[in-house]
Amino acid sequence: MVKTILITGGAGFIGSHVVRLLVKSHPDYLIVNVDKLTYAGNLENLADVENRDNYKFLKIDITNIRQLGVLFNSFVFDGIIHLAAESHVDRSISSPLAFIKTNITGTVNLLNLAKEQWKGMMKGKIFYQISTDEVFGSLDERGVFTEHTSYDPRSPYSASKAGADHFVKAYHNTYKLPVIISNCSNNYGPNQFPEKLIPLAIHNIMNNRPVPVYGKGENIRDWLYVEDHARAIDLLFHKGRVGETYNIGGSNEWRNIDLIRLLCSIMDEKLGRKNGTSERLITFVTDRAGHDLRYAIDSSKIRSELKWEPLVNFESGLRMTADWYLNNTGWVQHVVSGQYKRYYRKQYGNR
Ligand code: NAD
Ligand code: DAU
Repeated sequence: MVKTILITGGAGFIGSHVVRLLVKSHPDYLIVNVDKLTYAGNLENLADVENRDNYKFLKIDITNIRQLGVLFNSFVFDGIIHLAAESHVDRSISSPLAFIKTNITGTVNLLNLAKEQWKGMMKGKIFYQISTDEVFGSLDERGVFTEHTSYDPRSPYSASKAGADHFVKAYHNTYKLPVIISNCSNNYGPNQFPEKLIPLAIHNIMNNRPVPVYGKGENIRDWLYVEDHARAIDLLFHKGRVGETYNIGGSNEWRNIDLIRLLCSIMDEKLGRKNGTSERLITFVTDRAGHDLRYAIDSSKIRSELKWEPLVNFESGLRMTADWYLNNTGWVQHVVSGQYKRYYRKQYGNR
């Protein structure tokens, strides 16, 4: 193999799309996917590539220094794409410590091991931190986040991601570790755990359950189809400039309530329901504590430097996502019931 690449969190939503893309488009790379398989990690996401010669999965917790030590003794990595994280804002509000542990301590563990392994041979290596636009805080009606916007995290989740990013930058400055960071806006698409807005709404509409909209539904997010994000990650990993940060986003802002109304009409059509039926499921509920009003990304840097642009427009992406959930009801049942853990035991034994 020409290169050995470590991907953390590859059994999760975005990670599984990144693993699939790299395994298929770089047959000469060995892709080592390590994941703790929390509630959000599901190896069924990767069933189509799990038997490829250039792919290896290891169940590892990035907060466990012993497990990581064995990993770094077993492989010499050319690059690390770090996605493993606790990723849900609402969970971070009820349990912040888990976010500090995985998102900050886990990241620093990886930085330390990369620094040790790459001592004297940093050239050509890359530690790529996958971060979020939420570290920039909240916008009012105007303005966008650029790479120069100061960090101003406002939830335990975004504070933990910001903390991790600061360590990544500190390791670059102090130890000359070759790093890249990208900050992406909200992703949607197949394989997203149905606790996040879009898959939760699709799941509830399918099952005729209330669709919870926080507050008045006026918060705004900038949505990007997950495969467009995965392509950006592949590009930045190979062609991004060391020490730089890059914003990734869809330039596709939607008020939550407008997005949910559009999704309801798509679902009515797909389920053969009379137009307006699913909209009746919309239920306004208590707002999220400290709810950020608006995120919007200026992605002109990656667009001009690397000629990246999103390929999937929002309405067709929503349709593809709706189709995927309608055609994969078993996947949803498995993740909701935890049945995928049985799949793991069947596939990998007790490792
Ligand atoms: P996800 O929750 O779907 O997946 C996270 C993965 O990390 C899971 O497979 C989980 O098992 C694994 N994991 C969690 N704790 C671990 C640990 N201690 N050790 C090893 N593995 C562990 O998240 P996602 O939405 O795919 O997000 C992936 C990354 O992208 C995160 O770093 C997140 O902050 C970032 N991000 C997400 C979005 C988004 O809209 N989802 C946008 C921008 C950035
Ligand atoms: O911006 C990037 C971030 O996007 C990522 O870093 C996070 O990992 C990812 O979870 C996502 O965070 P959000 O909080 O924006 O995503 P979520 O899907 O939880 O919520 C999207 C919007 O919808 C937000 O304004 C809250 C609202 N919402 C969410 C849920 C789950 C509702 O109105 N009802 C809901 O039931």
